[in-house]
Amino acid sequence: MRDNAQFLWHPMAHPKAMQASKPDIIARGQGCWVWDVHGHKMLDGVAGLWSSNLGHSCQPVRDAIVAQLDELPFFNTFRGTTHPRAIELSAALVELMRPDGVAAVMFSNGGSDAVEGALKLARQYHKLRGEKDRSKFIAMRQGYHGVHFGGMSVNGNTNFRRPYEPLLPGCFHIDSPWLYRNAYVTGDEPQDEAELGRLVAAQLEREIVFQGPDTVAAFIAEPIQGAGGVIVPPANFWPLVREVCDRHGVLLIADEVVTGFGRTGAMFGTRLWDVKADLWCLAKGISSGYVPLGATAIGDKVADVFLRDDTAAGQITHGYTYSAHPVAAAAAIATLKLLVAQDIPGHVARVSVPFQQRLRGLVQRHDFVGDVRGHGLMLGIEMVADQARRTPLPKTSDIPARVARAAYRRGLMVRVSGPNLILSPPLVISAAELDFLCDALEAAFAEVAEAAAPR
Ligand SMILES: Cc1ncc(COP(=O)(O)O)c(C=O)c1O
Repeated sequence: MRDNAQFLWHPMAHPKAMQASKPDIIARGQGCWVWDVHGHKMLDGVAGLWSSNLGHSCQPVRDAIVAQLDELPFFNTFRGTTHPRAIELSAALVELMRPDGVAAVMFSNGGSDAVEGALKLARQYHKLRGEKDRSKFIAMRQGYHGVHFGGMSVNGNTNFRRPYEPLLPGCFHIDSPWLYRNAYVTGDEPQDEAELGRLVAAQLEREIVFQGPDTVAAFIAEPIQGAGGVIVPPANFWPLVREVCDRHGVLLIADEVVTGFGRTGAMFGTRLWDVKADLWCLAKGISSGYVPLGATAIGDKVADVFLRDDTAAGQITHGYTYSAHPVAAAAAIATLKLLVAQDIPGHVARVSVPFQQRLRGLVQRHDFVGDVRGHGLMLGIEMVADQARRTPLPKTSDIPARVARAAYRRGLMVRVSGPNLILSPPLVISAAELDFLCDALEAAFAEVAEAAAPR
């Protein structure tokens, strides 16, 4: 198509490289399927970008958006005004998250905004309590928390950070509890998941103590790291993290932008570990990607401090023109209704088991597949140079891109992120569609392996 990538600088891409190698133009979507501009049909293995959880033609969400456009396309929610959808969505979201101890929510435009809101509220909470020095944040390597200066400063991916450094001072990183690349074992030593969980939680505690607990505002992490390569922590990790944070008065921020709203087979990722955070970052699946929306959910402990304050210090001097945009709020209300009515997390928990099991088999079939990991409908396939030694793929390797192209030709859209292929299909995907996904992906891997085999 004319002018593709000529005037548009794409996120996470070099503008010049995009002109040389044009992005695919996705023109249409229906259910879990998308069509490119040439009419080529593909299963959407990425749900837009972890977002289109209810698929691309969800009538109730579409109808809610249209009705809202007719009723009130926009009004703000700054001090003094609100609108019916803002009131309804805040009540629906708090009701959904009451089991997690959520008392209130703040709205924004996406995940990066949601993170920013959480980081700021964490600092303000400590100031209100008289602990004015608690300004530092601790996060994990491999973590992804969006692209604003705060979120990028707690981001655990050096490649994303470098072009924009120096970032926010006072942000520190601990290891990711990453079993496949476990920094605490050498050679062929057996891997012990629970031990890894303990060691990394202990590292968090040491970092808090080293910094001085009275200077640390919050620890932020994804319940399962998504963009960093779908890293599922050991089951004991989050409960231990909760204990460490409590011991030192540090707030726990769960970045549920990806894991929220059913993707893991639980309504929220923290529920997998039976942990209650203090602040939650939400976006993507909240409106099923139909209209941009983010939210920061506020737990009882944090809310109480604000609600007990009678000074100007408790005023929220944060928020956006489009916070709780009526059209986004209408889309989210319809999305949340369906999530609950259709028990989407339950569906994910059921269909994801054979999906996860089947793709794990890629490790046995291809020596350039190092690890297949994930939970629910998030799955990462890490490619390696040497399977036995777990040698990382050279950065210049085109193998992940070749597998992705082969999948594309076979009618499956996947995402390449460094050495990983990442899969995050819509949550309403059927068992038959997941079979199609696995068939197409296995054929794509076989095609690339065949092309690379010595003749
Ligand atoms: C865990 C996490 N946090 C925050 C973000 C940022 O969200 P957005 O791109 O909507 O700003 C993302 C985006 O993928 C994410 O995965």
